[in-house]
Amino acid sequence: MQDEKRKTVPGPQGNPQRPLAPAAFALEETYRATRLPVDQASTLIPDAYTSSEFHALELERVFARSWVPVCVTDEVAEPGRYVVVEVAGRSLIVCRNREGELRAHHNVCRHRGTRLCEAETGTVERFFQCPYHAWAYDLDGVLLGTPLFTLEAGIPVDQEDAFDISGVRSFDKADYGLHPVRVESWGCLVFVCLDDEVSPLSEELGDLPERLAGYRLAEQRLLRRVEYEIAANWKLVGENFMEYYHLPWVHPGLVRVSPLKAHHRWQGTGMYIGFCTSLIAANTDDGGWQGLPALSTLDEDDASSARFAWLFPNVALNALPNHTFLMLTRPTAAGWTKEVTYLLSHPESIAGAGESIEEEAAALLAFWDEVNREDIAIVERVQQGVIDPAYTGGRMCYRFEEPVHRFQNMVIDRMLGLRRVPAGDALQQQPMFPVVG
Ligand code: FES
Ligand SMILES: [Fe+2]
Repeated sequence: MQDEKRKTVPGPQGNPQRPLAPAAFALEETYRATRLPVDQASTLIPDAYTSSEFHALELERVFARSWVPVCVTDEVAEPGRYVVVEVAGRSLIVCRNREGELRAHHNVCRHRGTRLCEAETGTVERFFQCPYHAWAYDLDGVLLGTPLFTLEAGIPVDQEDAFDISGVRSFDKADYGLHPVRVESWGCLVFVCLDDEVSPLSEELGDLPERLAGYRLAEQRLLRRVEYEIAANWKLVGENFMEYYHLPWVHPGLVRVSPLKAHHRWQGTGMYIGFCTSLIAANTDDGGWQGLPALSTLDEDDASSARFAWLFPNVALNALPNHTFLMLTRPTAAGWTKEVTYLLSHPESIAGAGESIEEEAAALLAFWDEVNREDIAIVERVQQGVIDPAYTGGRMCYRFEEPVHRFQNMVIDRMLGLRRVPAGDALQQQPMFPVVG
């Protein structure tokens, strides 16, 4: 009976019956219903949100083969600062070297494989030192020495003879540096990429840096960092971000600041999903974005809009005239996500706020926290629903869910080993759907 079900093929519309065999996750026909044009398409197969086999394959095919955002530049601002992050199951050290350049290394000692750094963040005074046999590596990952080679690492003077290495053959420290990982930054974000074949970050980002140039993201400073544990798959968090179909029901307060009719497509070419609110409304009794002074160098369009982009695979960027809010979603299991949010602002806005900066930052954070908690509550309910084997996926609401369709097809591409950057719209900005009547 089980095997019968597993052989079920999709009809012209709708996804295959569940459960799917894990081998199906790498087959184009499994996704046939999501590959249809958005007005006919069904949502991604529910196993993509619930199956541990899908999750494992997704880590390898999506996260190990993409530029993955890992932190903001301010978290590794000074030489010696480092953060430890997990990408596709690999623990990585991301740091700034003595010359001020970003570096990333696998967090694994080249001797017997011990994890080098345990703390999530820290500062290296001289070198990373393995806790097992004290091999030491500099910020560039170069193996500096071991107790075999140097007496600096705490060897008692009366035992120095025992560490004479004159008899060691075929060992060159240069061969045993930390395994490096590609690292780049754009704006206020730091990205790593585990795959040497993937195009440079700038190619993946497409026209997004140009679209967001006015916000001077690279100069923005970190004001607050807050973590959330979410009992839902990371894609549900992303898909919820990129559609505002849910606004009237989930965010009755937000919809007054960000009304449906003010939303526009803002989609260029690149591995991102973009939209905007234009004109962005003033604060209401429920709060809003205003408070900090806006950046004075924005052009008229940017100064009266909020720009939203989901950078594939896993970060939401909200650019407002006076601050930026980022939501970085890290998959920790098929049904679990660790979300790290960052509130940033330009030094000009921060200076403009003067002594009330703490108050303004707290008010903005409270605004985002409320919206975020409303979103988390609903995506956790989605997670509870999609587990039910009776659910095989639903129809897209084409007026609002083209961004979700775009994202899900990017995921499918990567699951199938396809690399392509979807084209954008001809217009910089346009209504999400034609005005009826
Ligand atoms: S495992 Fe790191 S020094 Fe031995
Ligand atoms: Fe929402």
